[in-house]
Amino acid sequence: MNRPTNVAEIVALYERRGSEHYGESVSQIEHALQCAALAQAEGADDALVVAALLHDIGHLVVDVQADEGYVMGVDDDDHESIGAKVLAPIFGASVAQPVALHVTAKRYRCAVDPDYAATLSQTSTETLAAQGGPLDTEACSRFAAHPGCDDALRLRTWDDTGKMAEMDTPSLDDLRPLLDRLAAAKA
Ligand SMILES: [Fe+2]
Repeated sequence: MNRPTNVAEIVALYERRGSEHYGESVSQIEHALQCAALAQAEGADDALVVAALLHDIGHLVVDVQADEGYVMGVDDDDHESIGAKVLAPIFGASVAQPVALHVTAKRYRCAVDPDYAATLSQTSTETLAAQGGPLDTEACSRFAAHPGCDDALRLRTWDDTGKMAEMDTPSLDDLRPLLDRLAAAKA
């Protein structure tokens, strides 16, 4: 499968590869659904709920490329950029932008909040170095001034939390109407 170009292909990608290990105690689809549930519980708008659900789709797309011979290291796959590029034409910037910024949000929080880095999971700590480590002072200022900063930081919190061994979440089928509605609004 090439990169998904519509909601049906996104759903098919998660159905095909979502059971794969996320790197914590959850699968990709469990992590995605937990992040979406956390976003809903905090009253996030529809676009941010979808961003939370699909923020790691780049990992799944990269894995497709890996099938085709790419060799990836630990989280050096640029998954946030790839995910944003997949999602932007389907849902628009309101979904793609928080996805694009969710790794930068981690690097920002590690720079400005010393306690935050200590709360990261082992995998997230390992990937931080591959992702460039904490932002420097100038990059922190740029990120803080970015209009997508707040949404990216909210998504980051759900990303860090949505790794629970057990959690009640909606299913992908439950969220399908939301995906279809946002895609229709973009079209
Ligand atoms: Fe994630």
